[in-house]
Amino acid sequence: MKIVKTVDEVRAQVKEWRKAGLSVGLVPTMGYLHEGHQSLIKKSVEQNDRTVVSVFVNPMQFGPTEDLESYPRDLEADAKLVESTGGDLIFNPEPEEMYKDGFCSFVNMTGLPDALCGLTRPVHFKGVCTVVNKLFNIVKPDRAYFGEKDAQQLAIIMRMVKDLNMDIEIVGCPIIREADGLAKSSRNIYLTPEERKAAVILSKSVALGKKMVAEGEKDAKKIVTAMKELINSEPLATIDYVEMVDMDTMKAIDEVKGHVLCAMAVKFGKARLIDNFIETL
Ligand code: PAF
Repeated sequence: MKIVKTVDEVRAQVKEWRKAGLSVGLVPTMGYLHEGHQSLIKKSVEQNDRTVVSVFVNPMQFGPTEDLESYPRDLEADAKLVESTGGDLIFNPEPEEMYKDGFCSFVNMTGLPDALCGLTRPVHFKGVCTVVNKLFNIVKPDRAYFGEKDAQQLAIIMRMVKDLNMDIEIVGCPIIREADGLAKSSRNIYLTPEERKAAVILSKSVALGKKMVAEGEKDAKKIVTAMKELINSEPLATIDYVEMVDMDTMKAIDEVKGHVLCAMAVKFGKARLIDNFIETL
C-alpha cells in the first residue's frame, strides 16, 4: 500500500494499472477513518482490482465558522486501516496541490443543495461537488463509494454524475452504527461522555420513524413531529432539522410514498451529527 501526495503520482499509478487491464475503485474520504469508511473500502476491494482511498480535508466544503481547523486527522492510523482492508493507494494531497494559485472553477448545483444540510451550510455542497469532480478526474475510477449516512451528498453526487455524463458507477453503502445505535462518524470524537450518551437519541428517533412507516403511517408531518418530540426530550440535543423529503429531488413531502429520505441534523455541544433512514414504498 502506497501513500502519495501529488496528482501526477496518482495518475502514473492508475495508468500502470489500466495498462495491465485492472479496474479501479475510489473511496473519497476526509480521513480519521472508522468502520463506516472501512465498509466502503471493503466494498471497493470486493468489486475492483485496485482501490484508491483519498484522504483530504477539503477546505472548500467548510464554512468560515465551521470545524476545518479542528477536524480530526490521523494519517498513520488511516494508513493501517486502508492497508489491513486491502486498499492499494492513499492519495493525501495538501490543499495547495488540489487548489493551485488562481483556482477559480467550481461545480455549482442548483436545487438539491437548497435543502436539509445545505440550508445551514450554504457553501458545503459546492465544495463537495468541486472536490469530488476533481478526484474523479484525477483517479478516473470505474466505481466510487459513498456512505448513505451523508444521504443528501449521495443524492447530489448521483445527480452530478448523471447530469455531467460522468462514466462512473456510484455505489451507496449502508450506515454503520456503534453497538448502541449511534451512526459512526469522525465527528463523534467531539462529544463529551455525557453528550455521547445523549446522542443515542438520534438512532432512537430513526427507529421510531422507521417503525411508524412500517406500521403504515403516510403522514410525513406526524412522523417528523413524533421524531422531533423524542429528540427534544433529550436536554443536550438541539435540532437543526428533521425532515422527510423525496430522495431524488430533496423536496419536502406531505405523503410518505416513492423514494423517501427522512434526515436529521442535531447538535450536541460542539458536534453537529446527522442520521437518516431511506425507504422505497
Ligand atoms: O463525505 C466526505 O467525507 C466528504 O464530503 C468527501 C466526499 C470526501 C468530499 O470531501
